[in-house]
Amino acid sequence: MSEVVTSKDREYEAQEMAQAPGADQPMADRTNNRTLRPTTSKKFAEFMKTGWEDQEPEIKPLESSRFIGARLKALGKRFEGERIVIPAGQPKTRNNDDDYAFRPNTEFSYYTGLGQDYEAGAVLVLNPVDPDSPEAKAGATHTPELFVAPRADNSTEAYYADAHYGEYWVGPRAGLKELNAMTGIATHDIAQLPDALGKDVGAEAGAVHMRVIRLADPQMTDEVEGVREANGFPDPDANEKADDELQEFASTARMVKDSYEVGEIRKAVAATKHGFDRILTRLPEAVGKPRSERMLEGEFNAVSREEGNTVGYDTIIASGEHAPILHWMRNTGVVGHGEMLLIDAGIEVDSLYTADITRTFPVDGKFTPLQKKIYQAVLDSQQAGFEAAKPGATYSDIHHACMRVIAQKLHDWGILKVDVEESLSPLGQQHRRWLACGVAHHLGLDVHDCAQARYESYQGAKITPGMVFTIEPGLYFAKNDLLLPPEMRGIGVRIEDDVLMTEDGPEWISKDIPKQISDVEEWMAQRAAVRK
Ligand code: GLY
Ligand code: MN
Ligand code: MN
Repeated sequence: MSEVVTSKDREYEAQEMAQAPGADQPMADRTNNRTLRPTTSKKFAEFMKTGWEDQEPEIKPLESSRFIGARLKALGKRFEGERIVIPAGQPKTRNNDDDYAFRPNTEFSYYTGLGQDYEAGAVLVLNPVDPDSPEAKAGATHTPELFVAPRADNSTEAYYADAHYGEYWVGPRAGLKELNAMTGIATHDIAQLPDALGKDVGAEAGAVHMRVIRLADPQMTDEVEGVREANGFPDPDANEKADDELQEFASTARMVKDSYEVGEIRKAVAATKHGFDRILTRLPEAVGKPRSERMLEGEFNAVSREEGNTVGYDTIIASGEHAPILHWMRNTGVVGHGEMLLIDAGIEVDSLYTADITRTFPVDGKFTPLQKKIYQAVLDSQQAGFEAAKPGATYSDIHHACMRVIAQKLHDWGILKVDVEESLSPLGQQHRRWLACGVAHHLGLDVHDCAQARYESYQGAKITPGMVFTIEPGLYFAKNDLLLPPEMRGIGVRIEDDVLMTEDGPEWISKDIPKQISDVEEWMAQRAAVRK
C-alpha cells in the first residue's frame, strides 16, 4: 500500500518550517493551526492572478432606496451642523475564526435601507454641508456618505488571502459601485474613513460636532471618541450623553412606519403563517416523542430560512408546564397528549423586518372545557386591547384594557382574592402574578422596536397612524403555583398578533392566522391532513 504522507511531503514541510522571519519569503501562515495557506510561494501568488473570468454581482436599486431620503432628511434636520456616524458593526466571533451570521446594526439598516449581510464593517456618515453652499441654500443639511470595503475580486491578492472579504472565500460581494447603485448613497473606500471623520471637528463656532451610534461597533465608537477628545470635546460623559440623544432620536424616528416598512412587515407575517402551517402539519407525528418541541422548532426555523433571512428572535415552543415559562427557548421538552402548546415565533424577511406571533394550541386538536375557559379569557383581553387602540389613545391604554379583563376573570374564577379595582391600582397589581410581562410593544426591524425611545414617546405617547405594534396578553399558570386550583397548574396561554394603526383605526395585520377557538381547531385538522 502506498504511503498517504510520503517522504517528499516531509521534505516540503521541513523546507516550509526552515524559512525564518526576514527571509525573502514569509513563513507559511501558521497563525491559524487549522489551515496551512499557500502563502510562501511567489509562483502561487502570480498564478492566482491569472485565468479568472470576472464575476459581476447583479446591481439594481433596492426598493428601500426610494424611502431613505425622507428618513435621512429628518435625521439631518435634528442634528444640523453635526457629523453623524452610524456603523453597520463587525461580525461577532462565535469562536476562533468562526463568526455568527452577520446582521447589520438596526439604525444602519434603517438609514441605508440595507438588509441581509452585504456590509460588515461599513459606516454611514452624515456630513454637514457648508452653510454657505448651494446645497445648503437648496435646503440640504447633510451629505450622506457610505464608507465600505472595496470588492476583493480576482484582481486583488485579498481575493484568495482574506477569508472575510476575499471573493474566492465568500463569493462576489457588493462593493462601492454596487452599494451606491443599491442605496443611491455616495460610497467611499473605508480606508478614507479616518480622515473623513476628523475633518473640521472642533468646539469653536462653525466647527463640526460629532455623534455616533455607540453600541453598533465599539471600535468605531473609540475612534470617534479619540477624535472628539483631541478636538475640544474632552468630557466622555458629555459625549456619551450626546450619543444617547442620537440613539433616542433614531429609535423614536422608526415608530411611524412608511409604506415600504409596512409592506415588509406584512411579508414577514405571511411567511410566519407558513411557518405555523408547517408546525401543525408535523405536530401529530411529533406528539409524545423525546424532544418533540425541538422537532416543531426545526419545522418553523426551516421555513424562516426558506422564505426569509432567519427567525426574528429565538423560537419559543413550550408545551404543558413549559408554557407558563415566559422565555422557554430551550425547547427540549416532550409535546404531550392533553397539553396546551404555546408557540411564539416570527420570521425576519431579507430586509430584516420581523413578525412576532404567538398561538396556543390544544395538542390533540380540540380544546377541553377548561382550556377553552382560559383561552377565551386571553382572547377577550386581547380584543379589549385592540378596541382601546384608537388613534389618539395612548399606548398604555392598550395595557390597561388588557389587564382589566385579565384581573376580572381571575377574580371571577376565585383565584384573585382581592377586589379587582384594588388589584388594578398601582399599589395593588396582585393579578400580575399570572401575567408579569408587558402586553404590547412596537415591532419593526427589531422585535422590540424603538426600545431606546423615552417613556413620553412610547408608553405615554398617542398612537398614530403608521405605528405597528403587538398585542399579546396571556395567563401563565406555573406548575408550582400553590394559589391555583390543581387542574389549572402547568397551563400557559398567550395570544399575540401584530397590529397596524391606520387613519380608520387599528388593523390586525396577522388576521389570516386563525385564533378563534373553532378556527384554530379547524386549522389544526386541515394541517394534520396535509402530507409533506
Ligand atoms: N417574542 C418576544 C415577544 O413576544 O415580545
Ligand atoms: Mn411580542
Ligand atoms: Mn412574541
